[in-house]
Amino acid sequence: MSELSWQEAVEHIAQAASLDELKEWRARWVGRHGTITERMKELKALPPEERRARGYELNQAREAILEALAAREATLKDLGEAANLEAERWDLTLPGRQPEVGLLHPLTRVRRRIEDVLLRLGFSLAYGPQVETEWYNFEALNIPPNHPAREMQDSFFVDIPGMVLRTHTSPVQIRAMEQHQGRLPVKIIAPGLTYRRDDDATHVPMFQQVEGLVVDRGISVADLMGTLTAMAQELLGPSTKTRFRSSYFPFTEPSLEMDVTCAVCQGRGCRVCKDTGWVEILGSGLVHPTVLRNGGYDPDQVSGFAFGMGVERIAMRLYGLDDLRLLYQNDLRFLLGFRHQGGLR
Ligand code: DAH
Repeated sequence: MSELSWQEAVEHIAQAASLDELKEWRARWVGRHGTITERMKELKALPPEERRARGYELNQAREAILEALAAREATLKDLGEAANLEAERWDLTLPGRQPEVGLLHPLTRVRRRIEDVLLRLGFSLAYGPQVETEWYNFEALNIPPNHPAREMQDSFFVDIPGMVLRTHTSPVQIRAMEQHQGRLPVKIIAPGLTYRRDDDATHVPMFQQVEGLVVDRGISVADLMGTLTAMAQELLGPSTKTRFRSSYFPFTEPSLEMDVTCAVCQGRGCRVCKDTGWVEILGSGLVHPTVLRNGGYDPDQVSGFAFGMGVERIAMRLYGLDDLRLLYQNDLRFLLGFRHQGGLR
């Protein structure tokens, strides 16, 4: 082992290939049982004059080896760091990783779009409960006891007597009038979920409506037509035309259904509008005097108009869907199709 001179050891150390190898050199020469250490232990046995010279020499050797070890250690560490940096080098030319970003459900987009348009037309938002009393859902809206909506087959009655899952958002008309306590104008929209015992390609048991109500002095059918036409053009594009057909709802008199020129074919005729060029999008009318009275307003002093539309129905028309259930199946292949769709069109 000690055939090497300490000078040779210094040379080897200067070329050691690894920190592990350095550790060995350290142990072998200056460790507890290293060559130099052992020699130093032997000094005691020497006569004083020899001891001095030998001690001096051993100290020099020890210093030289420690120095060589420290120098090589520093170099090896530097080399290691450089290699690490090289291995971890970032390739700034690689394309970025695109995070998965969610998107709003098409129905949420349509509902928000409708809300945006109506808020800009001066309406405020109003809400009511989804589990509603028969009074608000039916009676207060002048819906007679023999009306089909009041049959068990058509509505979801709950275990609490006199309560029903609201079949439309119209009960919010009464609640909003009550909250206004006779103040004018009342100008609200009420978006929300509604429930009916329906389930087929064009009906689901839970669906969304947006209700609208305006009550003020001197409100006429002209206000209704002007407002709803403005809304339709904001929603579907400025070239949209509207037409009103007379209809029947217990809570309005007269009652009108509004058709718009088909957004899919611009009125030319297509599958969505069944080649008529028109699609029905809402029910409306002048608020029935009984309904005004039930909301705490005097029909001799004020009048109003109301409207209600189905959000799913509008989404179907806008997107040309013939099966409403697609909107509720949460099939990503379908939903991701709306990824690049900005608004409604
Ligand atoms: N509530 C009606 C329905 O669910 C829709 C409706 C029609 C609402 C006429 C109205 C209205 O406010 O004036 O079928």
